[in-house]
Amino acid sequence: MRKNIVAGNWKMNKTFPEGVELIQQIVNQADVVKNVELIIAPPFILTAEASKIIKDSAVKLGAQNCSNYKEGAYTGEISASMLKSVGTEYVILGHSERRKYFKETNEIINEKIKLNLEIGLKPIVCCGEVLAEREKEEHFQVVNKQIKEMFEGMNAENMKNIIIAYEPVWAIGTGKTATPEQAQQMHLFIREKIKNSYGSQIANDISILYGGSCKPSNAKELFANPDVDGGLIGGASLKASDFIEIAKSF
Ligand code: PGA
Repeated sequence: MRKNIVAGNWKMNKTFPEGVELIQQIVNQADVVKNVELIIAPPFILTAEASKIIKDSAVKLGAQNCSNYKEGAYTGEISASMLKSVGTEYVILGHSERRKYFKETNEIINEKIKLNLEIGLKPIVCCGEVLAEREKEEHFQVVNKQIKEMFEGMNAENMKNIIIAYEPVWAIGTGKTATPEQAQQMHLFIREKIKNSYGSQIANDISILYGGSCKPSNAKELFANPDVDGGLIGGASLKASDFIEIAKSF
């Protein structure tokens, strides 16, 4: 069964006390959200504490990244098993900011996806074109290549634990949102691609989220599309009431 999902990607925002306060606010308001998986992905430093705060609520815990190595001498890295050990369920992988600032490639993302699945975490895998690619009308080609390379070696069983997030890079943090038509078009394209590789059951069940300046004022029209199953929310996830309002938009 396909799930509606709203996930908050806090990025590098909130100190520890600020983060604790925001998680508590989200937990306090989460009751009004029905039939939607509500996920928060705070910075690593908050992960263990977040796990305790959300314990008796419907809120699920995510992380924004993890290492492509299993364990060992990788200074500064956080492993998938470390995340799992404190109650993380979801990990955002391949976000465009990781690609741009930290030189992540589809190959590295592929390694991370495999490792996450092996450990029992659910990857939220991001894809999306930059503005120049959209302007040259290469967006389908770009997303096609990302999906193909990131999911290299995956089987249908693996895909049952994967969520896809389409995030046109030109819409991230810019206030410019893809139109509902642009989102639907790409989501359908992605679903068709999944269908061709893994069959219609998997394609029908996989959740495909939209990300990029999604906010309370536009979430409803985006989520109303048959192939848009929720959102990966950056800026608007930093305010509990906005985040909850978005989750109520189905
Ligand atoms: P935004 O970020 O909502 O601030 O545009 C979305 C994301 O990067 O996941």
